[in-house]
Amino acid sequence: MIVAANWKMNPELSVAAKLASDYCATSFAGVTRILFAPHPYLVPVGVRLEGSGILLGGQDCHPSASGAHTGDVSTGMLHDCGASVVLLGHSERRADHGETSELVAAKAVQAFSSSLSVMICVGETLAEREAGNARVTVLEQLAISVPSTLPTTALTIAYEPVWAIGTGKVATAVEIAEMHLGIRGWLDEAGFNQTKILYGGSVKPGNAAEIFAVPHVDGALVGGASLIAADFDGICAAAAD
Ligand code: 13P
Repeated sequence: MIVAANWKMNPELSVAAKLASDYCATSFAGVTRILFAPHPYLVPVGVRLEGSGILLGGQDCHPSASGAHTGDVSTGMLHDCGASVVLLGHSERRADHGETSELVAAKAVQAFSSSLSVMICVGETLAEREAGNARVTVLEQLAISVPSTLPTTALTIAYEPVWAIGTGKVATAVEIAEMHLGIRGWLDEAGFNQTKILYGGSVKPGNAAEIFAVPHVDGALVGGASLIAADFDGICAAAAD
């Protein structure tokens, strides 16, 4: 199981350092933990994680190796700062920055060339689900966002229904099962048979066990609850059970 914390644009540095140290106080058998920290915090947070086995990740990268791209961060820079993985195509980046699946694929190729593994996010909006297009939307995002050249062990997929992110509204076990089965089928067909599939969207200690019991759920990508160490630990404990 993989449990990943996505801190997004949170918290302030002193809180981040304490939170990272608190994560390290416990370990969970059979659970790989990943922390996607804001770029300026990668180094100070990475120092706190040393020796814990918790992997450090960036929340985005540029598709080019270097160059005149003011404000952007390269995959080599992420690697130099201690990251071993990068989160790509989060719905907030797709919405806030107009990121397309084509751009996500280009970033994934660049990330792998810098020895980073990638976690690619997919997920439908409420309007797409209500129109009966959830499955087709997600499969199309996968088909375009995932480069066929990526090794299966360098890729993780996070299914995050947009309407469940930060809303407290979790997809039902049936909705998660249907989508994860569809994603599993697509991945196996495309040769990504060792790629894991995480669920994300309002995962909390109180609902994690139920979500982890759903077939083809290999872990969780956690936003809000990852900002409270006890809550993140509670989710990791559910994954370890
Ligand atoms: P929440 O857990 O706050 O719903 O966020 C989910 C998410 O977007 C993780 O990437």
